[in-house]
Amino acid sequence: MKNFISTHNCTFEELEKILKLATQLKSKPIDNCLKNKSVALVFFNSSLRTRTSFEVGINQLGGHSSTLDVGGQIWNLEYKDGAVMDGQNVEHIKDASKVLSKYFDFVCVRSFPQMEDWNEDKKDPIINSFKKYLDIPLISMESALYHPCQALADIMTIKEKLNKPEKKKFVLSWSYHPKSLPTAVPNSASIIASQFGMDVTIVNPKGFELSKETMNIVEKNCKDKGSNFEVVNSHEGFENADIIYAKSWGSLKYYGQPEIEGSIKKDLKGWIVDKEKMDLTKNAKFMHCLPVRRNVEVADEVLDSKNSIVYDQAENRLHAQKGLLKYLIGDKK
Ligand code: CP
Repeated sequence: MKNFISTHNCTFEELEKILKLATQLKSKPIDNCLKNKSVALVFFNSSLRTRTSFEVGINQLGGHSSTLDVGGQIWNLEYKDGAVMDGQNVEHIKDASKVLSKYFDFVCVRSFPQMEDWNEDKKDPIINSFKKYLDIPLISMESALYHPCQALADIMTIKEKLNKPEKKKFVLSWSYHPKSLPTAVPNSASIIASQFGMDVTIVNPKGFELSKETMNIVEKNCKDKGSNFEVVNSHEGFENADIIYAKSWGSLKYYGQPEIEGSIKKDLKGWIVDKEKMDLTKNAKFMHCLPVRRNVEVADEVLDSKNSIVYDQAENRLHAQKGLLKYLIGDKK
């Protein structure tokens, strides 16, 4: 494993090793596995958790990080090969990647989808351009399609709270949100749950299905693990859940058409996770990757309840990413 772009490209054994290192680092946070190593953190988009947990984690591992905001401290970047660069983009990812490869030991990239053309976004063009041109390992800090570091923290948290995730019911629930959001988090959350043998239920209103590619990955993992996979179009899917993972995502059917999606969504404001819906579950833990719109995606009564583990999830971003970096640097003790 050279790059870390989605957990479905990793074996179960690799993921278990990373999580074991993460757990060790959680109990003993200071390590020197990144001594004299440097990590570039390239951000095309805003971030609170990802940015700070990577910076703090790299420091705790004895390494140096440079946080680079595209269009801020570094030039606007072009990803299309063969582009005639007579617009706003000053530097091609090809050139930036070759130069960063000379200075750093890892490059980590956050790039959201453009949310205009699904056929373009589903190629995950920015992360794949870095992958093509970097000569050093690449870590995705969320791309158009996946948020694998979030997924590592999610499964680490589930393992801590439920002990054995196998056969426990993981419900990914679509939530209302005024904006059309990417599918990276729901893709990665459902994939990692399926990789660890959980029964996966995706609860979404009709028209808000995840991509065929993600459904196929999750379905195959569940089949291989002997667990259940289902999609339910109502909150009846919450019944007997051990985990409720709330997230909003945009409709792939109306991708790049926020007005149409908005007119459909105005009837979906009831898709908020509240106490009434949580009462359908088996005393489930509540998860969300954050940031969250309080009393829109989830009611305060759930987010602030004892069953909410969202801050543990956020904390585990730090430990999981440190485990990943230690694993990738080859320090697998
Ligand atoms: N969950 C997550 O990735 O948070 P940020 O967008 O704040 O990094």
